[in-house]
Amino acid sequence: MTANPVAVCAVEDIPAGTVKSFEIGDELVAIYNIDGTYYATHGSCTHAFANLADGILEGDVIECSLHFGAFHVPSGKAVQAPCFTDLKTYRTEVKDGQVLVDLDSPAPTAP
Ligand code: FES
Repeated sequence: MTANPVAVCAVEDIPAGTVKSFEIGDELVAIYNIDGTYYATHGSCTHAFANLADGILEGDVIECSLHFGAFHVPSGKAVQAPCFTDLKTYRTEVKDGQVLVDLDSPAPTAP
């Protein structure tokens, strides 16, 4: 059993404009810093399971490195083919310099 929300990394591990992935239990989770706000989504592309942390974060859109599909990070919406299935999002919070992820709750910015 993991605690929830889970402390995943220090805020300085993810500079603004970058993304990193982490294993939380059985789940691969990507954590993004977009202009100082932290977001978390499932870490695998919904097209063919590439690690999204290998992709390119441009503004609030992550482009997958494998076939260049893309997702809007705050909502998890697929925005570019060949990605059509939205990404799962997770609620994040920052506490004591740590980024915490709640695997049981979607991001408040998700539909
Ligand atoms: Fe991401 Fe194909 S695996 S676009």
